[in-house]
Amino acid sequence: MDYKKLIKVALNYRNRAYSPYSDFKVGAAVLFESGEIYGGCNIENASFGATNCAERTGIFKGISEGESKIKAVAVVGSLEELTYPCGICRQVIAEFGDKDVKIIIAKSENDYIVKDMNDILPGAFTKSDLGK
Ligand code: THU
Repeated sequence: MDYKKLIKVALNYRNRAYSPYSDFKVGAAVLFESGEIYGGCNIENASFGATNCAERTGIFKGISEGESKIKAVAVVGSLEELTYPCGICRQVIAEFGDKDVKIIIAKSENDYIVKDMNDILPGAFTKSDLGK
């Protein structure tokens, strides 16, 4: 898997962040099993709760285009320290990926760590808990 390519996409989408309230830019790149990559940025709102994170923007773009399974998600927030996906995004990634989905948490193309989904959301509540 080409982690550097995913980080490059995430960095590009980070520039598209709409974050006038937090001034915190986040970019994400979501690789689906088809091989397609969907980029996303955070999109804030004057009604703060309506904000959408970069990861979910990318995931929802892919799912709405007919994608079904996530293989990897790269995220770039702060360029000074690693920014992990928020709890809501972890839950949404868990909905569309297996426990071994790769989460690439990056500051740059050369400065990143890779985690398995299960490392950052152990014991996830999923469709199997609902008998689905
Ligand atoms: N944010 C993301 O886009 N992804 C995360 O995983 C963490 C938080 C955004 C949401 C909001 O626009 C800003 O960062 C500050 O919370």
